[in-house]
Amino acid sequence: MNRADLLIQELNLAPHPEGGYFKETYRSSGIIINHNLPIEFKGNRCYSTSIYFLLTSEDFSAFHKINQDEVWHFHEGASIRIHQISPDGIYSSVVLGNDVLHNQQFQHVVPANYWFGATVENSNSYTLVGCTVSPGFDFKDFTLANRKDLLQEFPQHTHIITKLTKA
Ligand code: GUN
Repeated sequence: MNRADLLIQELNLAPHPEGGYFKETYRSSGIIINHNLPIEFKGNRCYSTSIYFLLTSEDFSAFHKINQDEVWHFHEGASIRIHQISPDGIYSSVVLGNDVLHNQQFQHVVPANYWFGATVENSNSYTLVGCTVSPGFDFKDFTLANRKDLLQEFPQHTHIITKLTKA
């Protein structure tokens, strides 16, 4: 078995709707009551949650967005490129990895409401990262991109949108 498969087994990772595999590793016991949260949060939320997220080079993390900032932490494997499109249509990307002397970053924060996805930089490889959010994650705050809608909104980014959407 290769190391990605071993990690999926050892860390008990399950398929994520955006692609890749994940396991929640932390969910705070503290809860923020809905009326203390911005209007876009429909219901109460934990203070914070964190996951392991593993992506292989054969797969991709499809464009999605959430209501809160997401902190990515590099753990091991190949470097991974995070692609993001701001609400006003600016595309940018960063590479998360351990070669911080060559433009890689151990951590990156994807701002709330940005569309974002990810690709592993090397072939025949995988990346294991951590993703932490506050308020805590809830699939009610998660929107997976629809290719047609995203292309209509950002026709200038046709190539990357076509690459990082499932349908
Ligand atoms: N829990 C389930 N999915 C996710 C995700 O995509 N990000 C974070 N931070 N937590 C999750």
